[in-house]
Amino acid sequence: MTGDSPYALSIDAPVCRYVDLDSFTDLPAEELLSEEERARAEGFRFELDRQRYVASHVALRQALSEYTGLHHAELHMSRGSFGKPSLTGHARTQFSLSHSQGLALIAIGGRGPLGADIELLRPVPDAAILAAEHFTRREQEALAALPAHERDHAFLTCWTRKEACLKAVGVGLLLSSQSFEVGLEPDRRSVELSVAGRILWLVLGPAPARMDCVGSLAEWRQTEARANRLGAAGTGGYTGDPSLPPKAGARARSVEIAP
Ligand SMILES: CC(C)(COP(=O)(O)OP(=O)(O)OC[C@H]1O[C@@H](n2cnc3c(N)ncnc32)[C@H](O)[C@@H]1OP(=O)(O)O)[C@@H](O)C(=O)NCCC(=O)NCCS
Repeated sequence: MTGDSPYALSIDAPVCRYVDLDSFTDLPAEELLSEEERARAEGFRFELDRQRYVASHVALRQALSEYTGLHHAELHMSRGSFGKPSLTGHARTQFSLSHSQGLALIAIGGRGPLGADIELLRPVPDAAILAAEHFTRREQEALAALPAHERDHAFLTCWTRKEACLKAVGVGLLLSSQSFEVGLEPDRRSVELSVAGRILWLVLGPAPARMDCVGSLAEWRQTEARANRLGAAGTGGYTGDPSLPPKAGARARSVEIAP
């Protein structure tokens, strides 16, 4: 897909790959990891979790090295205020990592900030409870209306889409997952988020299809002042829902808006 319109609906992620963390044998020395990553690895209680964490971060560094042409030693990562990782000095290289048990998804691109999320396909017995906490009313109703055999996949589609959007924007759970709608329909390709008086346009897409997981990608493509679009002043402070006033204390936690 081409063009600058927010409606040009394809995600720029030339690298989008799954990594089987439990058979990732191409593990060079852990020295590839930063001090922070090594410290996190040491903090895991279970060896399997430590091994998967190391495998996912080594795989991410290998993919970033291939994509940028940088040597491993030149890859310096930093984290935004809410934990979104980025490649220091290479603002144009966007990436996102997600893991679900023994499987990881890595997406790298060069346009808008990326979010990737995967979940292993599995029965979700508490889907309705989780949906009530995290989905919009319309998404909850659409889920409930599906035949039972379609519900797990649809739930995980909606969940990973929301996570991918949150990860693209990078503010994590500061932005309520109920404040924006990603829908359950398979062909949904764009999402609109209202944050700090701005409208954020994200392009949505599925990760490459696999039988054992559900994966979603989001790319934050464009930002617009709400005043421009709605003909009304933005709220100034953070609010996840344009119809609500900013929450108490919201102004104290301003959200950086890019691109
Ligand atoms: C941390 C969060 C960004 C994703 O967590 P997650 O889906 O449990 O885990 P994933 O494996 O998909 O993603 C973790 C990776 O995201 C990246 N990440 C961490 N914080 C991030 C942030 N603020 N923005 C973007 N990416 C972030 C890191 O690369 C991290 O990998 P690491 O822990 O190995 O360093 C956040 O959205 C969260 O805590 N979610 C909890 C679940 C929830 O309630 N979701 C509601 C959605 S409906």
